Amino acid sequence: MKMVKINLKTLKNRVQKEVEKALDLKELDEIFKKYLGKRGEITRILRSLEKLPKAKRVKIGREANELKNFLREKMEQKKSSFVKTTEDKEEWLDITAPGQKLALGHLHPLTQVQRKVEEIFQTMGFSVVEGPDMETEWYNFDALNIPKDHPARDLWDTFYLKTELPKEAKVKMKTKFSSPNGLLLRTHTSPVQVRYMESHQPPLRIIVPGNVYRHEATDASHEFQLYQVEGLMVDEKVSVANFKAIIGEFFWRFFGKDIKFRLRPDYFPFTEPSFDVSITCLVCGGKGCPVCKESGWVEMAGAGMVHPNVFKAAKLIPHQRSSLGWQGWAFGFGLDRLAMMKYKINDVRLFRSGDLRFLQQF
Ligand code: DAH
Repeated sequence: MKMVKINLKTLKNRVQKEVEKALDLKELDEIFKKYLGKRGEITRILRSLEKLPKAKRVKIGREANELKNFLREKMEQKKSSFVKTTEDKEEWLDITAPGQKLALGHLHPLTQVQRKVEEIFQTMGFSVVEGPDMETEWYNFDALNIPKDHPARDLWDTFYLKTELPKEAKVKMKTKFSSPNGLLLRTHTSPVQVRYMESHQPPLRIIVPGNVYRHEATDASHEFQLYQVEGLMVDEKVSVANFKAIIGEFFWRFFGKDIKFRLRPDYFPFTEPSFDVSITCLVCGGKGCPVCKESGWVEMAGAGMVHPNVFKAAKLIPHQRSSLGWQGWAFGFGLDRLAMMKYKINDVRLFRSGDLRFLQQF
């Protein structure tokens, strides 16, 4: 009897401590099972009562029942304290805490540059025009005064496509095929000059931004896919002087400062005379670096006065009054080069690498 009495007292202390220590509902459940489950300690005491003499049975029975109620009560209290803390957590709002920053995306640097170029030329009266990436040999070469077997085709080696255009499309595109398939990924945006002049008469001022493709090994300044911006201006009296003025204005607005540039004789089959347009290397300030191949100058565009054969290929209606016919200049900028110079980037491959460490800087 004495043993049982002591047991009940220590049991009560133990129960109380364990309940207090419990960290979650699962632990509480285990405590319940340990004492009040089928084989629980308190359950066993209650079951053994019948074996005791009546007087003891009454006394110990009362104490064991009190302990049972005591445990139940403590457990309820503990349970509600758990619920409260989880509720508190859910409802807690610290209005002084800094807000969560949403990760905002932005336009790719090449897109930003393209938009800037479009904006500048649009304010100078140029329209923005587009052409297809998948081009015919006729527009990419023949119409630009590069006949079949002309060595200049080697300059623009490209990806020839096996795809056959459906008949209706061929008729619609007024295409003359110089090979059975005649389709390729355009190597430059120049074909759009012809496409545009087929349906528009001078005076013309257009720029043509777009992707072009080259069969080329890649390195820090070459990619097999790049962006170009073509420019074309055709009117009665258009000269190299007009070109210089417009391109100078463009550089000034694009780079936000006076830029030294130069025109040097070059060769393109679709212009006569032709020249290359270079600017002082902005990566090294003209001192010489790997980007400008130590020369201090970077070639930005090819340009020239539009060759009469290009006008002919586009079937431009001859000028009615002037015996000189239409005059025009054209240029082809590398948009990637413009971006490289603007942001002082020394490797063209970074643009299409998908590397966020690079892209997030713009
Ligand atoms: N299409 C030439 C190229 O991709 C660049 C070019 C040169 C464009 C002279 C022109 C031009 O319009 O007149 O290399």
